[in-house]
Amino acid sequence: MHLDEKIWLFLSFGMIMVFMVFTGYQAIALGMAPPSHKETIDPQKVDQTAPFDQPGIKQIGENEYEVVMTLQVFSFTPMEIEVPAGSTVHFTLTSKDVVHGFEVANTNINAMVMPGHIQKITQKFDKPGEYLVLCNEYCGSGHQLMSTKITVK
Ligand code: CUA
Repeated sequence: MHLDEKIWLFLSFGMIMVFMVFTGYQAIALGMAPPSHKETIDPQKVDQTAPFDQPGIKQIGENEYEVVMTLQVFSFTPMEIEVPAGSTVHFTLTSKDVVHGFEVANTNINAMVMPGHIQKITQKFDKPGEYLVLCNEYCGSGHQLMSTKITVK
């Protein structure tokens, strides 16, 4: 075998090994959990567990809102969210079944929402408009229908 070929083989194999060690470390040692919060919930009992027994939007201060939301095939609850411009919104999210995504167009929000985990995100909405909310994790046959919107007035 040519020396160049041996070098290429060695490098390719080495890269594969490095990637496998990385992925393995993330999956096993870090448990593939969401990096931000470690709050967990029984995914079978989301409807009975506070605050998810009452999903919805609540004003918690001047220009400050709390949105408790569940994600399920293939929808977001609550469906409609409306806040005044300049509001800070604290989202508390969980999934009732499989892994979903929570992406809000024209913001930096792009999160994975996993069953058994509680995801928290805070976002300030300065510009009025309709913000498209999308699920960006493939979650089944109706995945492409899973969307809603946030209206900022
Ligand atoms: Cu939910 Cu894709």
